[in-house]
Amino acid sequence: MKSYGCQMNVYDAQRMADLLAPEGYDETQHMEDADLVILNTCHIRERAAEKVFSELGKVRLLKAERAAIGHKTKIVVAGCVAQAEGEEILRRQKAVDLVIGPQSYHRLPELLRRTGTGESLVDTEFPLEDKFDHLPAPSRQQIFARGVSAFVTVQEGCDKFCTFCVVPYTRGAESSRPVAKIVAEVEALVAAGVREVSLLGQNVNAYHGEGEDGASLAALAMRLARIPGLARIRYTTSHPNDMDGDLIKAHRDLPALMPFLHLPVQSGSDRILAAMNRKHKAKDYLALIAKIRAARPDIALSSDFIVGFPGETEADFEATLDLIAKVNFASAFSFKYSPRPGTPGADMPEQIEERVMVRRLAELQVLLEDQRQAFNRATVGRTVDVLFEKPGRHKGQLTGKTPYLQAVHVEAGSDLIGKILPVEIIEAGANSLSGRLCEGIAPESLQWEVPV
Ligand code: 5AD
Ligand code: SF4
Repeated sequence: MKSYGCQMNVYDAQRMADLLAPEGYDETQHMEDADLVILNTCHIRERAAEKVFSELGKVRLLKAERAAIGHKTKIVVAGCVAQAEGEEILRRQKAVDLVIGPQSYHRLPELLRRTGTGESLVDTEFPLEDKFDHLPAPSRQQIFARGVSAFVTVQEGCDKFCTFCVVPYTRGAESSRPVAKIVAEVEALVAAGVREVSLLGQNVNAYHGEGEDGASLAALAMRLARIPGLARIRYTTSHPNDMDGDLIKAHRDLPALMPFLHLPVQSGSDRILAAMNRKHKAKDYLALIAKIRAARPDIALSSDFIVGFPGETEADFEATLDLIAKVNFASAFSFKYSPRPGTPGADMPEQIEERVMVRRLAELQVLLEDQRQAFNRATVGRTVDVLFEKPGRHKGQLTGKTPYLQAVHVEAGSDLIGKILPVEIIEAGANSLSGRLCEGIAPESLQWEVPV
């Protein structure tokens, strides 16, 4: 199983593994051993889809080599390229046995049984039944093997229709899972040793699942924070227009809600924001950030940026740099605009030349990288709670995360995996921090009161 793209694909891959376990399948890290290869694909930008076709070329060769020694290999294309391209995948790569969209993967076992009959199958429906009702729970061992930080999809799809984005077409309309089902899933994860959950949704802060305590993301986070043993809650990805007062207050009042927020703005130019159909202006975003910082002054902010959206002038690009300078991001993702077939942006006049996009992206990334490094340097000398997740690069080391989602390496024994302990940050490297355990200090996380 190979996943591309966002964290929801990582979550979907785990659910597919859970579905296939009772069928006798087990995951392998070596593709040459695999009787079944699933590419769980991403369609958000061009290169992601092209990577899939180039990978399929390699898997086809492997399938032929394995066939020569009497082994059968099934090839499945899942995820958003499957949804968007459907039959086209079978036309471009004949070795593929099954193409399955993200809303249909609960049908995977049944569809797999129908392959091998010479019939090539495509299932890119948006079925009426809830796929989550058909997904088996993972075993405790599986949860444990996946680590102490887990993803949980709480919302899928998007109704915003930003003019550059394929998500409303590949993942469909917005829908939220009921509170009770999410609580049950998180309780099972925590019972198996998970300490942190990241709530996933393409538009997660628009969450509105059925539930008794109101059904906003803030209410869901409050409810989850009452699960004993769950120490940390994160969520991604959010839209500025859905960042309501309750969620901002939750950042102030709910210690389990981590002080990190990924809030994509895409551009700092009002003209481009309007053309992108973002329905907010740069000043609205800045006002929102000010409100969030008033509620939680130490919050680490992250964003997504697109350069070279059709019609973007130098002045528009400067406005984006200006917004970045005003906010000071702890981290960010930035991309060159990639016209996605079927989206309004793809048909807009004034597409921007590649060399212009390359230059703008480089300039933007220098600024964002400076801000990221400055944020990391600012943690040096501070003592922060670290959730220890897994063995580090060197022997005797563990890797963990600060509340601000920074990776930290600490000399510590593996018995601390899953624990949250105060760590003094001693150095900021290019991509991670180093720290040392503070002995004898009661972990802040244990002093936290569980909100009722
Ligand atoms: N071109 C470039 N970047 C895109 N993104 C989404 N669609 C495109 C596109 N067509 C970026 C946005 C989004 C992130 C997940 O990917 O910044 O927030
Ligand atoms: Fe895509 Fe996000 Fe816009 Fe929805 S809100 S269309 S997922 S960029």
